[in-house]
Amino acid sequence: MSTWANLGLQDSASPLMEQLIFFHDHALLILVMITVLVGYLMFMLFFNNYVNRFLLHGQLIEMIWTILPAIILLFIALPSLRLLYLLDEINEPSVTLKSIGHQWYWSYEYSDFNNIEFDSYMIPTNELSTDGFRLLDVDNRVVLPMNSQIRILVTAADVIHSWTIPALGVKVDGTPGRLNQTNFFINRPGLFYGQCSEICGANHSFMPIVIESVPVNYFIKWISSNNS
Ligand code: CUA
Repeated sequence: MSTWANLGLQDSASPLMEQLIFFHDHALLILVMITVLVGYLMFMLFFNNYVNRFLLHGQLIEMIWTILPAIILLFIALPSLRLLYLLDEINEPSVTLKSIGHQWYWSYEYSDFNNIEFDSYMIPTNELSTDGFRLLDVDNRVVLPMNSQIRILVTAADVIHSWTIPALGVKVDGTPGRLNQTNFFINRPGLFYGQCSEICGANHSFMPIVIESVPVNYFIKWISSNNS
């Protein structure tokens, strides 16, 4: 999760988020190079008196500063497209989780396993334990196995919500009447926090998501202890 003074992206917990961070750094590097070059040119403009008796046209420089930006854009566009299609790929998921957005909580269904379903509400500040995270902890966590392909189906019951977990690189809208699909692979155990990121009403800020990533045998235990 994000803690104090963390202004960048969170540490990744999935291969896709790792790729997203690589792409972010790559794009940022290109941005910095362009900013420095344009900044230098604009600064040097102050020392130019705009007079040159022989300058009437410049075919070559016009060619260069037209084509060069197009090539630079390709260096952003092609890796971006690669990531876009990578994010869309589904690899034989071993668990499917359905998340349903409500005003203002998430409910979950593990349809593969005896139809386990539960609601997940934020813990209000006055009921929070001393080691709890304010506005981020929930009463029922989403338990998921690590090192497994997980499919997520997202929908909503009332208005549009968005199921978003930064550390996993997941951000899917839950839309009434639609079923959106995504997938991820958690590569370490731990707690991963997320929030709704579609403005969905008065308590939009108070419907967080907590994923508890555990080894597969723990997940099996958890699943079977929930079979009533
Ligand atoms: Cu649900 Cu914002």
